[in-house]
Amino acid sequence: MRLSLCAALFASLAGAAQCEFQQQCSKLASKLKIDNATVWFAEYVAAGTNISFPDTDPSCGQAAMTAGVDFCRVALHVATSSESGISMEAWLPRNWTGRFLSTGNGGLNGCLSYDDMAYTVELGFSTVGANNGHNGTAGTPFINAPEVVKDFAWRSVHTNAVVGKQISAAFYNKKHVKSYYLGCSTGGRQGFKSAESFPEDFDGIVAGAPAVDFNNLNSWSGHFYLLTGPAGSPTYLTPDQWNAVHANIMDQCDNLDGYVDGILEDPEICQYNPEALICPAGSPANSTTCITETQARTVRAVFSDLKGENGTLVYPRMQPGSELLGTPYIYYSGQPFQYSADWFKYVVYNDLNWDPATLGPADYAASDALNPSDIRTWSGDLSAAHARGAKILHYHGQQDQIISSSNSPRYYKHVAQTMGLSSSELDSFYRFFRISGMGHCAGGPGATFIGQQRGATASLDPDQNVLTAMVQWVEQGKAPNSILGTAFVGETAGGEVAFQRRHCKYPLRNTYTGKGDPKDPASWKCVE
Ligand SMILES: *[C@@H]1O[C@H](CO)[C@@H](O)[C@H](O)[C@H]1NC(C)=O
Ligand SMILES: *[C@@H]1O[C@H](CO)[C@@H](O)[C@H](O)[C@H]1NC(C)=O
Ligand SMILES: *[C@@H]1O[C@H](CO)[C@@H](O)[C@H](O)[C@H]1NC(C)=O
Ligand SMILES: *[C@@H]1O[C@H](CO)[C@@H](O)[C@H](O)[C@H]1NC(C)=O
Ligand SMILES: *[C@@H]1O[C@H](CO)[C@@H](O)[C@H](O)[C@H]1NC(C)=O
Ligand SMILES: *[C@@H]1O[C@H](CO)[C@@H](O)[C@H](O)[C@H]1NC(C)=O
Repeated sequence: MRLSLCAALFASLAGAAQCEFQQQCSKLASKLKIDNATVWFAEYVAAGTNISFPDTDPSCGQAAMTAGVDFCRVALHVATSSESGISMEAWLPRNWTGRFLSTGNGGLNGCLSYDDMAYTVELGFSTVGANNGHNGTAGTPFINAPEVVKDFAWRSVHTNAVVGKQISAAFYNKKHVKSYYLGCSTGGRQGFKSAESFPEDFDGIVAGAPAVDFNNLNSWSGHFYLLTGPAGSPTYLTPDQWNAVHANIMDQCDNLDGYVDGILEDPEICQYNPEALICPAGSPANSTTCITETQARTVRAVFSDLKGENGTLVYPRMQPGSELLGTPYIYYSGQPFQYSADWFKYVVYNDLNWDPATLGPADYAASDALNPSDIRTWSGDLSAAHARGAKILHYHGQQDQIISSSNSPRYYKHVAQTMGLSSSELDSFYRFFRISGMGHCAGGPGATFIGQQRGATASLDPDQNVLTAMVQWVEQGKAPNSILGTAFVGETAGGEVAFQRRHCKYPLRNTYTGKGDPKDPASWKCVE
């Protein structure tokens, strides 16, 4: 009856097909039979519609967006225990490729990654996103709530994948062909958690700047406040002084890759030494161009590995080069870092009065020993994912100002050691790319547009896009050997191309050959 009404209303086949899709969508809510789930709505969204998110926590900072394609939007709540649950959405495109994709989260947040959902639904994936078991960006919902922490550690992504696949199959009357995952930061950790613990969930995982070794990451990100002290302390550097440190780092290390352009291809080989910046005797205490011996101690500590109670490594040093990103320089702002402070307050100690200025080695040890719901994400054993043919693409910006890019080679080597595989053996299923000149997940002066986000996409060509490269790897067996990144003038997508650069597969290092235009990727070479 309704289908024939559709046909009658639309003269064209295309119009009738759209009408039919719309009707399938409106019927979906009553069709879904999912354990522990309450479907809120299923509604048709036409391309060009302004979608608003009135129920989203304001701290998530996403009020509305314009739909790029026609899709069916389903929102539901899934209970994960008697005292916890996730809010999730599935976006089911009219022009479906047969592929399924789950997005991840960021920071401590409980925010759906609507931008990533828009990016992937437009590429024809049936796409899901979840709130990670709580709403908003703060850690307050974790207090005395281990089930909520468990959702955050792994259960939200896993439930979202399992339920999302059911919704997709119910809607299209067909199982998906391949399943994918796309995430960065906490989202990168969620990708590796899936690979380590839920290898069946995804055939292809794109994981950026992963927050792996999560407990120790929170100790490390909290310790900067103890190094700098509050603004005005003798140990604190002003933004002008960090500018001077950055310039001095570039003086010492920018040429290590053969070309001076403000971008370190491999910060691992930069052993920065601030001696030359120390003020001559008699300089004013508040100089903008030099630093005191006390401030030099802060700088040395920032660029040194963090050690624990017994002298063992807690977390690697901040890589040199990111000093100017993330104004007002996040870790060097003279304020406690919110995610770290929240993690210790609301999870490790369940103590609202815990003071982030007291953080020390005993706290690092307590946090890592607690390791709630094994959030650490450091098993290093990807053998189950490997055995079933899953592929993993790992990338990390080499000017990351929040998660040290040094932790990614450390994880890669840990996997190699745990599985007893050489890097050419790892290549068959796990590849890691270092993205020079990129900050945390995106942005920065390098060739940072690699398709990791909708707003960081220069091309859908698999040679230039980590997501389509993954699809090609999974579906055609053609693995990426490098990722061609694009830099736009003013970092503005779609504007004038400033240059392109080919990012190398670890452990290779990108180096200027000394011949040809440095803006041309062919003038660079991946070397041992
Ligand atoms: C979309 O809707 C929201 C909320 O209803 C509104 O604030 C916003 O201005 C709209 N955006 C556009 C582009 O119309
Ligand atoms: C999160 O927000 C949704 C509304 O978007 C609400 O229905 C849900 O109960 C909230 N979840 C929690 C854990 O507060
Ligand atoms: C539904 O929730 C209960 C606990 O609340 C759990 O034991 C059960 O496994 C859940 N069912 C599914 C299919 O996840
Ligand atoms: C549907 O997707 C295919 C590629 O998967 C594309 O070539 C085609 O233009 C799309 N059609 C519409 C109507 O968006
Ligand atoms: C440095 O301190 C002196 C004395 O307090 C003040 O007059 C001067 O403006 C300060 N300079 C800067 C660059 O802050
Ligand atoms: C040293 O500390 C680390 C982290 O706190 C711990 O994992 C390790 O077992 C300790 N080693 C010794 C020898 O005490």
